[in-house]
Amino acid sequence: MTDAASQLFPPPPEFVAKARLDAAGYKRMYEASVSDPDAFWGEQGKALLDWIRPFTKVKNTSFKGDVAIKWYEDGQLNVAANCLDRHVATRGNQTAIIWEGDDPTQSKHVTYRELFEQVCRFANALKARGVKKGDRVTLYLPMIVEAAVAMLACARIGAVHSIVFGGFSPDSLKDRILDCDSTVLVTADEGVRGGKAIPLKANADKALESCPDVSTVFVVKRTGANVPMKAGRDISYEDSVAAASTDCPPEAMGAEDPLFILYTSGSTGKPKGVLHTTAGYLVWATMTFQYVFDYRDKEIYWCTADVGWVTGHSYIVYGPLASGATTLMFEGVPNYPSVSRFWEVVDKHNVSIFYTAPTAIRALMRDGDAPVKKTSRKSLRLLGSVGEPINPEAWLWYHNVVGDGRCPIVDTWWQTETGGHMITPLPGAITTKPGSATVPFFGVQPQLVDADGKVLDGATDGNLCIIDSWPGQARTVFRDHKRFIETYFSTYPGKYFTGDGCRRDEDGYYWITGRVDDVINVSGHRMGTAEVESALVAHAKVAEAAVVGFPHDLKGQGIYAYVTLNAGEQPTDALRKELVAWVRTQIGPIATPDHIQWAPGLPKTRSGKIMRRILRKIAADEHDQLGDVSTLADPAVVTDLVENRQNRA
Ligand code: WT7
Repeated sequence: MTDAASQLFPPPPEFVAKARLDAAGYKRMYEASVSDPDAFWGEQGKALLDWIRPFTKVKNTSFKGDVAIKWYEDGQLNVAANCLDRHVATRGNQTAIIWEGDDPTQSKHVTYRELFEQVCRFANALKARGVKKGDRVTLYLPMIVEAAVAMLACARIGAVHSIVFGGFSPDSLKDRILDCDSTVLVTADEGVRGGKAIPLKANADKALESCPDVSTVFVVKRTGANVPMKAGRDISYEDSVAAASTDCPPEAMGAEDPLFILYTSGSTGKPKGVLHTTAGYLVWATMTFQYVFDYRDKEIYWCTADVGWVTGHSYIVYGPLASGATTLMFEGVPNYPSVSRFWEVVDKHNVSIFYTAPTAIRALMRDGDAPVKKTSRKSLRLLGSVGEPINPEAWLWYHNVVGDGRCPIVDTWWQTETGGHMITPLPGAITTKPGSATVPFFGVQPQLVDADGKVLDGATDGNLCIIDSWPGQARTVFRDHKRFIETYFSTYPGKYFTGDGCRRDEDGYYWITGRVDDVINVSGHRMGTAEVESALVAHAKVAEAAVVGFPHDLKGQGIYAYVTLNAGEQPTDALRKELVAWVRTQIGPIATPDHIQWAPGLPKTRSGKIMRRILRKIAADEHDQLGDVSTLADPAVVTDLVENRQNRA
């Protein structure tokens, strides 16, 4: 353990004095949540949400056999009504969303009443195009207010949204539209990030060439770029909302009706459509938002994620708005126009709670303290981290420089599939240690097991499982429940397996060590090595490819690809560049390989299985620790790969 990681940071007394919960409070609530989940979650469900029809049942879940997860199953409610209608009466003129543009001269405030009206109008516009309860609507949008409006409009009428991150390629968008049979797309003419335009409508048009069932495309005007509109299919978002009424009663949704699908990468095959449902998800997003961020009425809260990821769903839109908070939505990037941007935005809007990813912190840390110190940041009270393990050095910089040593840090471990925070400090209750996500949230029962599933006790390393259901968890993979069971509940039968490795220390604190499956985490974004491999082998000159992660100073992990070319093809720098560009167009910029190494052969077992352990070691430049290579079909392959490790870009 590094020195940094062994320091203790107890919650500052002035923070504890005002906090929602202290150490004893956390202990009491945690015990109640696991000893009597029905009583605990029944009470929380009533306290946190407004119901159209109250529930009488709370928990009905099984991780065994067919895996069936139901919470509050006979209740009815509407997510948009919980995020908007109930606040309009009490805080209609309060700002719901502060939008900060990529261009620092552009920002706006949208009140709860205004947001409510915009959502009702767009909900009616969707209805006018025939969208009904249960239909899937794909959103491919930049970080603009209309993204939140579209999400809530779907929720209002019971349509299921599927957001595709604006950085994904036309091909990735196409796959996601087809997988969920979505017939409606909401996009924008262009997005803007770091001063550059992103051709969203052009990408969408390309994707839709292979999606004949998409009958409606709403196009939001963001830049005013002149984009072609296909007659009968494409309509202006602005025209359609102008023509729509603000009267749109919320649909009564069953607690277990789907709310959204979000595609995420796994260790095999194409991304999975993770499905979240209505009541349990909203209880989870709302409660974790309020307790983990210790949110206080009227505060300004800012999560820098994109709504294309689950963090944006739960902690830009649903958790904050259900809580009546003011949530800041940022269109831009951390280093435009300068590396002080985040802190300038904090000062401009008086942000109290700031939530970002370690990759951003590490990148900004490289530019030193001055760009931070020149800003005030006195409004900040709490800092958060999400997406990947935060190295203790970055944690300390975040704490000392960004937070002036004053603000607790909540390092929140969770996943797309968990719906919200799972292992995280509560800032008034838990002493933090740099690099540890600390302790479980209410109702979360972590367990560490070895490769054979043997339960490990005490201070140990192991594979992280969760042994019982929590309200926010995903219910299935859209139209593929079998894959849901296989992916999450079959490695260790009867337990949810997270795919993460983890260490538990003497104090019972959890330290996530990273994925133990073939998933890599690039700048907090999940990427399946299989996806990058299939993109590479789809190239005409590639015979075979194997992709692994390697430690990367800024991104956490980088993408390292070993490529075997077809017989007769020459390994040239030009071809290497071509392959990198190829992967970007197949998947999107987040999948850009950092290194491509030409591999005349790949290390395989006699049964033909690629030994990734060896490839990971070579990529990490740890070829003195290759371990046993005697089971390889041809051990000479390894020698060649090690020798030619420099032969990469
Ligand atoms: C994977 C989930 C959670 C929303 C964003 C990513 C890693 C996430 C942490 C953290 C260490 C973390 C895990 C996890 N991860 N947060 N605080 N400390 N690792 O969601 O794309 O579903 O990825 O991100 O490996 O399994 P995701």
